[in-house]
Amino acid sequence: MSGFIQLTDTHIVAEGQLAYGRSETAGPLRQAIATLNDQLPAITEVECVIVTGDLTDHGSEQEYKRFRYIMDVLALPYLVLPGNHDHRERLRATFADCAWMPHHGPIQWRRDFSGFCVIGLDTLVEGEHYGMIDADGLAFLDNNLAELGKTPVIVATHHPWLHSGIQAMDDNNLRNGQQLMERLEAYPGPARMISGHVHRALTTQIGNVLCQVSPSTCHAVHLDQRADSANSLVMEPGAMTLYQFRKSQQTIVSNQMAISQFEGPWPFEQEDARVIATPA
Ligand SMILES: [Fe+2]
Ligand SMILES: [Fe+2]
Repeated sequence: MSGFIQLTDTHIVAEGQLAYGRSETAGPLRQAIATLNDQLPAITEVECVIVTGDLTDHGSEQEYKRFRYIMDVLALPYLVLPGNHDHRERLRATFADCAWMPHHGPIQWRRDFSGFCVIGLDTLVEGEHYGMIDADGLAFLDNNLAELGKTPVIVATHHPWLHSGIQAMDDNNLRNGQQLMERLEAYPGPARMISGHVHRALTTQIGNVLCQVSPSTCHAVHLDQRADSANSLVMEPGAMTLYQFRKSQQTIVSNQMAISQFEGPWPFEQEDARVIATPA
């Protein structure tokens, strides 16, 4: 079995600041990293973490330094992609020492796992909230899909193609997602798309492509699907997603994990020993 963990939309701000004046984003990321480091011995063959964009809230050098400082405590290697809140060249400069980071052009890469492969694509359009895969990105995807034969593939992006029903998010999704879907539909092996941006857990199937969005580590986008709703954030609990290839069924299983740590585990067998205090 091999696998990875998706973190997304960490929205790191400068020390002492809150994202949108409400959301303390560094704490949840620290919590996620501590939980992961603690849980790793219990999870088999997780090879790396993939962060699918909106690493920072404003794309400043200071925010990237803080993101890296927090992430570098992680006991796994990690790869990142930019989101609409990121700044491509500052992000590139922050990870210039990493082998997966291209020296120029879109921030895109391929990571091979045992049994499957992840292709990370850059969907950032500087100055816009919507996303696009440019011609370089589509060519990179075509070349890699051609090489992969029928290997199960996951395409990772910041912007999703699926519609959440939250108008402001759907207006700013992956504008040329259809071009990606056509390629994945035509791919002879199993294909999946994983994204962030919506700050909620979403799953659907479009044609033969499974599409998933992972929740953010910090705030969520309010689940308000009314046409006149303001785009709002809510402080729902943060989460991350584990993906593992199961050889027994030749498929990738996803598993949502809380960023927080909780009491337990306790063996189920000890139920008889439980004492319930009754009020006097
Ligand atoms: Fe975000
Ligand atoms: Fe975003």
